[in-house]
Amino acid sequence: MDYNKIIIEKKDNYAVIFLNNREKRNALDYEMSEQLVDISNKLSIDDTVRAIVITGSNGIFCAGADIKEFVNGINKAPTQHFKDMDINVNVFKCAQIIKKPVIASVEGFALGGGFGLVAASHIAVAGRNIKFGMPELNLGIFPYCIFPYVKRAIGERLAVKLALTREIFDETYAKEIGLIHYIEDEPLKKACDIASSISTKSPLVLKLAMEAINKTMSTSLELDYLALLRIINFCASDLKEGAEAFLEKRKPEWTGN
Ligand code: COA
Repeated sequence: MDYNKIIIEKKDNYAVIFLNNREKRNALDYEMSEQLVDISNKLSIDDTVRAIVITGSNGIFCAGADIKEFVNGINKAPTQHFKDMDINVNVFKCAQIIKKPVIASVEGFALGGGFGLVAASHIAVAGRNIKFGMPELNLGIFPYCIFPYVKRAIGERLAVKLALTREIFDETYAKEIGLIHYIEDEPLKKACDIASSISTKSPLVLKLAMEAINKTMSTSLELDYLALLRIINFCASDLKEGAEAFLEKRKPEWTGN
């Protein structure tokens, strides 16, 4: 597969994945998701890579799912949504698919799906003046596929509160609630140092460690159900309205359909 929405850089014993979808603020569109899942599968069997850093580009981590794709969701048959579901679910399973430690390095903002990628990573580092949050309800959708990871990272009731209130918060609060672990002026450097340090450890023990970590942190069952709810939500006119309202920079008019 050719990658046009991500860039991969291999270093000594670790790799860096850059999200790269500049016009859409690194939105996690279907193409980018497919490429992330593809590279995750490849990295999982590449023994020269023992840790992964995932980051954005141009000072931005990720603005979440591609809101333009929400507009067309209602025109797709549920069967097509069902076919797409694997990619949508697996993109947040990347850290598990890769079977290696994944370190997120965040700059700019991590919203919606971007927030989910941070929550799904094993370790997270942030720069300064970051915006974190789950604004999905503003658009007429719930953060279904990221919710299990957010709950796991910061606890159930706080995850519920943040999803319902759509609060946007900074790196200081993100660290306080355990979403990120470090605040750094140069987050990518710190993330790479962590990856480099981990990759010096025994390859066999690292494999066993990641098996232990991923199995005991598994969210698979919940995710399958949440992905089905997401499909139902994708068939709602209110999601089309919410997405169009965002793109047209106006307030949505909900009909409840
Ligand atoms: N999907 C698709 N396009 C997006 C996008 C997304 N998630 N986020 C931003 N864009 C597009 C905007 O539509 C705009 O396109 P245009 O230049 O054709 O008008 C462009 O990226 C720049 O966005 P803008 O809002 O002008 O940039 P900003 O720097 O002022 O703000 C954000 C950046 C990320 C804070 C803001 O764009 C935002 O809130 N995005 C939506 C985040 C969100 O709700 N994510 C959850 C999705 S489920």
